[in-house]
Amino acid sequence: MKAKIGFIGAGRMAGAMIDGLIAKNVYSKDEIIACAPSESTRNRMTQKYGIRMYEKAVDMAGLAEIIVLAIKPKYISSLFREEGVKVGADQLLISIAAGVKLKALGEYAPEARLVRVMPNHCCMVLEGGAGYVMGKGCTEADRKSVDTILSAIGLAVEVKEEDLDAVTGICGSSPAYLYMAAHALIEAGMKYGLTEEQATILAGQSLIGAGKMVLQSGMKTDALVDGVCSPGGTTIEGVKVLRDEGFEETMIHCVDACVKRSVEMGKE
Ligand SMILES: NC(=O)c1ccc[n+]([C@@H]2O[C@H](COP(=O)([O-])OP(=O)(O)OC[C@H]3O[C@@H](n4cnc5c(N)ncnc54)[C@H](OP(=O)(O)O)[C@@H]3O)[C@@H](O)[C@H]2O)c1
Repeated sequence: MKAKIGFIGAGRMAGAMIDGLIAKNVYSKDEIIACAPSESTRNRMTQKYGIRMYEKAVDMAGLAEIIVLAIKPKYISSLFREEGVKVGADQLLISIAAGVKLKALGEYAPEARLVRVMPNHCCMVLEGGAGYVMGKGCTEADRKSVDTILSAIGLAVEVKEEDLDAVTGICGSSPAYLYMAAHALIEAGMKYGLTEEQATILAGQSLIGAGKMVLQSGMKTDALVDGVCSPGGTTIEGVKVLRDEGFEETMIHCVDACVKRSVEMGKE
């Protein structure tokens, strides 16, 4: 009998997904398989998750209902063309490889039903954000499977393929922008006498809380800003500085640059 899900590649992203799938009881360890060329990776995965590991993708690819393509984009061509990996008509191929379009995936695996996902690395703490595109021939059951798998590692939205550059701009890359915000808050906290540990807890928790407020309060972001700014209070003074110094415009320019590069990379 086929495994439920098989990972080609067992690195950071595959590990995070396996963490989520097991933690959220989507699949048991016996329903998950994976492959990686290096023995050290295979040993690590077996010890950590107790899943069945294979050395060669070609030996594993036919053995699972859903195949997740989780290797670096530069190795994908040789995986299919030289190693001879085949994914069949009865399988769903979910690619998380950045920048590899459905058209290219369709050339590598012409028979498979295809899904392209742009996740972000916060899936490592099961708080990832992802955009996904369902390819031709996918069924409603496939959509449900993808949603269940991605929900195990965070939140995901279905988008059109042409919108994945925007997903990259505001989700794939945005953890870096927010880490910079966290870094600045931590530095500022330490400047005013907090220890690094205290400042890290307070800055990190503020980012978590603000994210949850954006998603769960039902309020627009400008109303959330107003909600923290009492007249004559402290926050309004900081917000004035951010407005005077063009914080929101800078953030939009940052996303512009990221989206532009994503579009360029898609043509390379
Ligand atoms: N990291 C991110 O934040 C992020 C975000 C969005 C999308 N992605 C995408 O996710 C994918 C995986 O990224 P990652 O960060 O998890 O990479 P990674 O940590 O470098 O892991 C890659 C894995 O692929 C394995 N591998 C390499 N060649 C292989 C082959 N021929 N057959 C089978 N397995 C092979 C490697 O095996 P060994 O361990 O044996 O070397 C390794 O386990 C990439 O396509 C990337 O574009 C990553």
